[in-house]
Amino acid sequence: MAQVTSIRGFKDIVPDEVGKWHYVEAGARSVFSLFGIREIRIPILEKTELFVRGIGETTDIVEKEMYTFKDRGEDLLTLRPEATASVLRAFIEHHLYETDPLVKLFTIGPMFRRERPQKGRFRQFHQINVEYIGQDDPRIDAELIFMLMYLLQSLGLESLNLEINSLGCAQCRKPYRPELVAYLRNHDGELCQDCLRRLETNPLRIFDCKAESCQKILVDAPVMLDTLCHSCRHHFDTVQQYLGELSIHFTLNTRMVRGLDYYTKTAFEVTAQSLGAQNAVTGGGRYDGLLKLLGGPDMPGVGFAIGVERLISMIPRSNEDFIEHPDIFIAALGARAQGYAFLLAQALRRAGIKTEMDYSPRSLKGLMKRSDRLHCRYTLMVGDDELDAKNASLRNMATKEQAALHLSSVEEDARSLASMINGNNRKPADASGEKG
Ligand code: HAM
Repeated sequence: MAQVTSIRGFKDIVPDEVGKWHYVEAGARSVFSLFGIREIRIPILEKTELFVRGIGETTDIVEKEMYTFKDRGEDLLTLRPEATASVLRAFIEHHLYETDPLVKLFTIGPMFRRERPQKGRFRQFHQINVEYIGQDDPRIDAELIFMLMYLLQSLGLESLNLEINSLGCAQCRKPYRPELVAYLRNHDGELCQDCLRRLETNPLRIFDCKAESCQKILVDAPVMLDTLCHSCRHHFDTVQQYLGELSIHFTLNTRMVRGLDYYTKTAFEVTAQSLGAQNAVTGGGRYDGLLKLLGGPDMPGVGFAIGVERLISMIPRSNEDFIEHPDIFIAALGARAQGYAFLLAQALRRAGIKTEMDYSPRSLKGLMKRSDRLHCRYTLMVGDDELDAKNASLRNMATKEQAALHLSSVEEDARSLASMINGNNRKPADASGEKG
């Protein structure tokens, strides 16, 4: 029968790769706990309206990239393309604003965007997402960026570029928009078809355009940063001041607008050249009007999302470093020895020892090979005759040292093996230390 394969842009994470994912997630959780950031788990499916309203109707994500379908002809639903809108929906729905003046949340999970798959770009990808909701003190932006850089560096990432910008507030956008539109109109002959449309609907999005002709025009375009109101200017200056005091290096990127409409004031991205064309490992920023736009209280927020696939591709260690190996392999020869091995394996696991055995009728050589391939620390060798003589052999797979182990009962044998493996200095009974 023909094989059913996975969907283009949807990737499996196979067991040899999973160790790195655990490492990253554990690293993130431990840093988050230092900063009092609590986990929230949210559904991957939401009403489409949440993203249309939150991310913006004329963004690429909403216009072209969402997986949207009618639920049995009823509600219009969408697989979440990002987490911020969902976290805020949950924040409103559960009145989390009543719990603390500054609510710090993180969530980890898959997102879905129907983009053209390429290196570092998938249709299902994962994000580690953090949101600080409730206050707009510039030190909060600085803390969030500090925490992000600390996390990325603690995971071993190097050569990162932090780019920051300010996108101002509704008040300072008012004079900026006509200025930008006037400039672009003067060059509309050189704009791509998409940008001509964006000029009418959402001119700021033109900064996201990858077309060379549009990029050329944007070099001299007026930027938001030059039109900031007094309060946004002060906010941005303070963010930069504190980043400096925290020794966080950054560059100003006045053309960075981020691909989602909700951003206000501070916006930032962390990029790395080693990632190639899809070079952003993290994107984030402040979104002071979003909560209100989603029907919640008028409260500010700031956050970021790390692309986990991109982050993992930058970890300078091999998958092998993260693979957990068994403590012991039981190589049993003969029907009775296999029966004993089966019970011993379960008793050892109950005692916290990672144990493997083999259920197929293999030779001792075959069993040792398998133990070797699994990188087991020890192999216990026991055949029917050894079982009768109550004497098995324990081999240290690294040193090749072999010791005799006196057998008593399954429970007793498991106990002595466990204490030996756990390094309790209690050698197995009768260990003679002969070399094998
Ligand atoms: P974003 O810039 O759209 O921001 O995505 C954040 C990160 O997700 C990117 O920097 C990238 O590493 C990763 N990413 C995005 N799309 C893909 C893809 N197709 N394949 C692989 N990785 C991808 C947001 O999503 C905002 N919600 C971030 C945020 C949180 N802003 C405030 N709070």
